[in-house]
Amino acid sequence: MTREACGELRGKDVGRKVSLAGWVHRLRDLGGLTFIDLRDESGVVQLVCRDLPDARKLSREDVIRVAGVVAHREAPNPDLPTGEVEVVVEHLEVLSQAQPLPFPVDEDPPRASEETRLRYRYIDLRRPRMQRNLRLRHRVTMAIRTYLDRLGFVEVETPLLTRSTPEGARDFLVPSRLEPGKFYALPQSPQLFKQILMVSGVERYFQIARCFRDEDLRADRQPEFTQLDLEMAFLEDPEELFTLIEGLLSHVFRETIGVELEPPFPRLPYEEAMSRYGSDKPDLRFGLELTDVTELFRDSEFRVLRDAVAGGGRVFALRVPGGAAMSRREIGELEEVAKTHGAKGLLWLARGEELRGPLSKFLADPEPLWQATGAETGDLILFVADVWEAAATALGQVRLELGRRLSLIPEGEWRPAWVVGFPLLEWDEEEGRWTAVHHPFTSPRAEDLEKLLDPGFPEERLGELKANAYDLVLNGVELGGGSIRIHRRQVQQRMLELLGIGPEEAERRFGFFLRALEYGAPPHGGIALGLDRLVMMLAGEGSLREVIAFPKTTTGACPLTGAPAEVDESQLRELHLKIKIEP
Ligand code: AMO
Ligand code: AMP
Repeated sequence: MTREACGELRGKDVGRKVSLAGWVHRLRDLGGLTFIDLRDESGVVQLVCRDLPDARKLSREDVIRVAGVVAHREAPNPDLPTGEVEVVVEHLEVLSQAQPLPFPVDEDPPRASEETRLRYRYIDLRRPRMQRNLRLRHRVTMAIRTYLDRLGFVEVETPLLTRSTPEGARDFLVPSRLEPGKFYALPQSPQLFKQILMVSGVERYFQIARCFRDEDLRADRQPEFTQLDLEMAFLEDPEELFTLIEGLLSHVFRETIGVELEPPFPRLPYEEAMSRYGSDKPDLRFGLELTDVTELFRDSEFRVLRDAVAGGGRVFALRVPGGAAMSRREIGELEEVAKTHGAKGLLWLARGEELRGPLSKFLADPEPLWQATGAETGDLILFVADVWEAAATALGQVRLELGRRLSLIPEGEWRPAWVVGFPLLEWDEEEGRWTAVHHPFTSPRAEDLEKLLDPGFPEERLGELKANAYDLVLNGVELGGGSIRIHRRQVQQRMLELLGIGPEEAERRFGFFLRALEYGAPPHGGIALGLDRLVMMLAGEGSLREVIAFPKTTTGACPLTGAPAEVDESQLRELHLKIKIEP
């Protein structure tokens, strides 16, 4: 008899003889009568065993096969799709026994620690929620593949054993056995290969691609993660790509969670995103926007602010409606948030019956401030002064914290946006050199190309150049990023030079790529979306680990396999390696 699906039995099946197999989900032993919830991929159904001694010996998660007859249930369970029926067992066979479990499969959210869940991932993945997440992920990649295939995109696999690809993180290295002392690097992204595919005449490429980055991990970062990576030849106007990705994302949302997104998504210049929301990945689900009030404090009696402005800094203000009622402790907590994100402090002004706060004595005429921020009686205004980006960023984090505390963030709303007009280069204080904001293969905007190529352009003004790059953000999460690329060798070489990579080093590290640009490289551009992040959001989860089958912990370990692990002396010898751990 062929095995049927537990979760699909209904009233219409009553009287039928069925064969089922699965895991013992729950077990109730009432003496001569044993009730078993049997679970397989499709769901759960109740089994009744009368006078079956084997049934009384079962444990949770044992794997069994039964044959029996479907019957009406005396007390139907309306919470269960199969709740109308039960299967009266005539024959039971134990296929595999389970040890006492480290944690129950039917607990949501699980109380077990992350470490325990990952060590026994095969049990954790049996949980209905994880099963749902795995299937959702599958449906997302299926929807992506179908959509892109229809538009003529070709999926091409690129190597995992390769050379360093600079995306700004550290590389994972793999030693070579055949060439002593040499290493492969695992790709931080398929960036250079996909660009070379454009030179190869593949005009529309995509790949569900594994990427590796050895960086500090967080809930939304894994050392090994997946991108939907995409590139198009002859792409010169990002709008063409925006429309494509908007269509793709709308398709994925519709097919997987039945939500209609509404293209076109807003395009937000980087500077506007920063000054209004204090973030380059703004959460647009709520207002609470910042105001630049620098001019009001240029001649302030209050030194902290006056000095900041005199030094070229900005003062950003955040109006908190009804915030005048906040306690000193609550404001203190917000100050901690600001400080954690780099602010020197957080000033406040409460507009109650009278003015309160450190600034109150120094405001000759508060009227312009009320005008600028829209503050009314009962409101609170918070201030951070610093250089533009630092001030906006710190207050932007306070904005997010307030959004959460004041429950301003609506559930079930989706607010995607394109952030455009990023700077091309930024000055790295620590390294004392310019670095690429996106990556070194990103083209400047057409109007800035000449400045980039002009050897007479003052180096200290390089920060003014804008990149032809864009990020896709959704509800405060950076979902993806991409750019129009440099497709001329001369420009690429100049770019590398500005990043401190001279001709020799450029030849050594990127010679293969620079050469490719000399043999007929079409203009091109593309994007990569973080697939794990997308699935995490669609699943409503707060961590990537919930949507990756076998993820790493925050220390980069895999508790299931024990990776990373020591290797045998003989393996090291074959690789011509000796380990000497520096203290
Ligand atoms: P970028 O570095 O912006 O661009 O990466 C694109 C997207 O990948 C996701 N992502 C991550 N997800 C999980 N864990 C990580 N450690 C992690 N790092 C990045 C993010 C991010 O937006 N080659 C370029 C793309 C291009 O220019 O086409 C690139 O990799 O969602
Ligand atoms: P101080 O003069 O450093 O004791 O700071 C006086 C008050 O100003 C404290 O409440 C600080 O939190 C606040 N403060 C100091 N520097 C800044 C700044 N750059 N922006 C906003 N508030 C600040």
